Amino acid sequence: MTRTIDLAGRVALVTGGTRGVGAGITRALLAAGAQVVACARRPPDGPLTEAGRTARFLPADLRDPEAVAGLLQRVRDDYGRLDTLVNNAGGTPYGDLAEGGARRAARIVELNLLVPLTVSLAAYPLLRGCPGGAAVVMVGSVSGSRPSPGSAAYGAAKAGLENLARSLAVEWAPEVRVNTVVLGMVRTERSEVHYGTAEQLAAVGRTVPLRRLAEPGEAGDACVYLASDLAGYISGASLAVHGGGERPAFLAAAHPQPRIAPDTPASPEPQAAPGAASPPGPLVVPDIPARPELWPVLDTAAPSEPQAGPDTPARRTPQAAPDTAAPPEPRVAPAPLARREPQAPPAPPTRPSAERGRPRPEGER
Ligand SMILES: NC(=O)c1ccc[n+]([C@@H]2O[C@H](COP(=O)([O-])OP(=O)(O)OC[C@H]3O[C@@H](n4cnc5c(N)ncnc54)[C@H](OP(=O)(O)O)[C@@H]3O)[C@@H](O)[C@H]2O)c1
Repeated sequence: MTRTIDLAGRVALVTGGTRGVGAGITRALLAAGAQVVACARRPPDGPLTEAGRTARFLPADLRDPEAVAGLLQRVRDDYGRLDTLVNNAGGTPYGDLAEGGARRAARIVELNLLVPLTVSLAAYPLLRGCPGGAAVVMVGSVSGSRPSPGSAAYGAAKAGLENLARSLAVEWAPEVRVNTVVLGMVRTERSEVHYGTAEQLAAVGRTVPLRRLAEPGEAGDACVYLASDLAGYISGASLAVHGGGERPAFLAAAHPQPRIAPDTPASPEPQAAPGAASPPGPLVVPDIPARPELWPVLDTAAPSEPQAGPDTPARRTPQAAPDTAAPPEPRVAPAPLARREPQAPPAPPTRPSAERGRPRPEGER
């Protein structure tokens, strides 16, 4: 049996659906057959068309609750229903939290957390009355689940957004499903602003396990799926669309050169030499310089000085500095570091054996 996603007859609203990721979402929904309303402050550069359908543009500054109410009233008046809401509008400039100050941070949290909350609340009466159920998709970011240096307020807001989605999924069930697509880096019109030249962008792409940034349409496909009946039992979920995620930075620092040839079996875990007692303590890794511009994933703004050399394919750079790009051969995991705590300290003779593995208080480490 062939399964296709058909959203014909359904109405979708995409915030910030006019450019970047949002335009990809708008086009994907159009391709699936939906009627799409894209809202933003400025109109798109040209008509957003796909599969013979064109998205309708409605202007609104979503930071203004009255404008949000007016937008949803317009959707009610003109369509009488809303099947899918994609909360996509968002983003942030790059900069240290302390430099930007509280006012700028509040604006970022407003756009990335309060706006989706406000729009969702305004849309709820239409969504819950939708025949066959409705779906809200939050556009989240990997910045919401890992440290986000240079975009701290944004990361915090995206973390809150995912939590909001999970709470609404409970409060609004069973009529409305609420999910989050958690995006890694996506190639948009503004990518060069964020990541530099095409070569630099390619180098950034090579830090991703799938070796490239996502296309906006791929973010859109994930939204289409979550909007569709195929996802009819999925609510409160976070769908990662990040090409495999981020390789832990400490591995690059610990293993600047691959220890084993590609496509050979990984070596067995190293054994501590007999009698060589390992002192207790956490996993030890070399110092990793605090250079935010070299962190592998910044979905928000440009590394100020991308380090990867142009025209240097990933597989030809096995000597790359440990803190620049992904090691060239990620298919084979480097041999794990020896931990400093493989051996529990010998138990005192009088101590019951069951107590040996108890968690140690902080001061005991
Ligand atoms: N690009 C990435 O690599 C990436 C990675 C992870 C997550 N994301 C997420 O994906 C979403 C889109 O990002 P993007 O890169 O496509 O950003 P973008 O290119 O800056 O587009 C943002 C969209 O939101 C609209 N918008 C911004 N502020 C608005 C406001 N106050 N009222 C109404 N519309 C507003 C913009 O239109 P106007 O300016 O005309 O209003 C534009 O259509 C964001 O939620 C972002 O956090 C992106």
